[in-house]
Amino acid sequence: MANLSAVLGVGGGIAAYKSAELARALMQRGFAVTTVMTEAAQEFVRPLTFAALTGRKVITRMFAGDGPDDVLASSVEHIGVAKENGILVVAPATADLLARFAHGLANDFLTTLYLAFEGPVLLAPAMNTAMWNHAATQANVEILRRRGHHILEPDSGPLACGTTGPGRMPDPERIADYALSILTRRRDLDGETVLVTAGPTREPLDPVRFISNRSSGKMGYAMAEAAALRGARVQLVSGPVHLAAPEGVEVIPVQTAEQMRRAVLDRLDESTIIVKAAAVADYHVTSVPKQKVKKTALRLSLELDPTVDILAEIGQRKKNQLLIGFAAETENVVAEARRKLQAKNCDMVVANNVSLDGTGFESDDNEVILALSTGELITPPRDTKRALADRILDEALKLRLALHQRS
Ligand code: PMT
Repeated sequence: MANLSAVLGVGGGIAAYKSAELARALMQRGFAVTTVMTEAAQEFVRPLTFAALTGRKVITRMFAGDGPDDVLASSVEHIGVAKENGILVVAPATADLLARFAHGLANDFLTTLYLAFEGPVLLAPAMNTAMWNHAATQANVEILRRRGHHILEPDSGPLACGTTGPGRMPDPERIADYALSILTRRRDLDGETVLVTAGPTREPLDPVRFISNRSSGKMGYAMAEAAALRGARVQLVSGPVHLAAPEGVEVIPVQTAEQMRRAVLDRLDESTIIVKAAAVADYHVTSVPKQKVKKTALRLSLELDPTVDILAEIGQRKKNQLLIGFAAETENVVAEARRKLQAKNCDMVVANNVSLDGTGFESDDNEVILALSTGELITPPRDTKRALADRILDEALKLRLALHQRS
């Protein structure tokens, strides 16, 4: 049984307020959480917030008390905290903390604890885009990655400093799911090659305009991250999204349905499991003008042709691969899932009702029904996309075993 106890290291960045949510998300997953705050972190959030949430004292400095006993007790406390806890999660990991970790400085409790800590380390950097892109930060990240630490790259989006770009701390639920996966890690996908598609496609209307859809890529990226953490080699064919590449995953960026099709077919034979979470456009413009279409007062009509159904094509060509399709539905979810399962020769279809609030497109959570080729229907409870990704993989592996035993 994994030791579900975490040290939550909080660095001094504006994202420190999100770490309070992270403390709660870790506890919801069964972790006992000990918080360590840097001096700068305490400028953003008060230790009391974490003490109240975790029910434990928060460590704020190296030498806690004034008396000789206090000094003695606290000077070895980092060793005790390092030994007692299963994982060190640092969020936000500021540029300063990354630099101090990379170079082995031990000038406060958190950096000293880091050196004494022998378990897995999960770092969630968050900072201004220019600071993240700086050669010094990237070099430090590389050192930490080579040291075997898990780095959840920052998301892109509007930042507190007013700029837009990579630098946002990932969602606390995702960090907590990731920490849980590290500690309860199964290597049941060792030796597998998993091909995942994610995000939308963009079908051009002219050189400056396109048709697309609301897919953020979160579901597909969660599948890729979960598979990689379970030992698979993962290739992720991704439409245009604002998500960082999951750790250890090869990302193949594409724009159109046809580019996605080519990227997938090129990799089909080497794959053992294929997960089609992308929201591929069903139509493209028959003939794309070379120049920008001028605005006039007249009504404009578009002539569209269907795109090739990539999933159906894989279904035709597959040999021994396990094929998992997705279905985005607004009605008759089960019937549609079963129809697509059969029509596209899938082994499993993951159907989501995209008309429900807080699930489907763009959200961090999802609610899915798994329709299996054995006729079975599985309805996991609503959960984070990351947690559901692990459940989908669990069910896929069980299904493959059942199919092998039947044949
Ligand atoms: O990206 P997120 O914001 O996290 O949202 C997740 C999601 C809702 C996009 C995802 O969970 C999902 O449902 N993905 C499939 C969306 C979709 O295109 O559904 P569909 O029912 O139209 O297509 C069925 C299947 O055929 C899908 O596996 C799709 O990838 C595939 N397809 C569709 C058309 C096409 N031309 N080629 C395909 O391969």
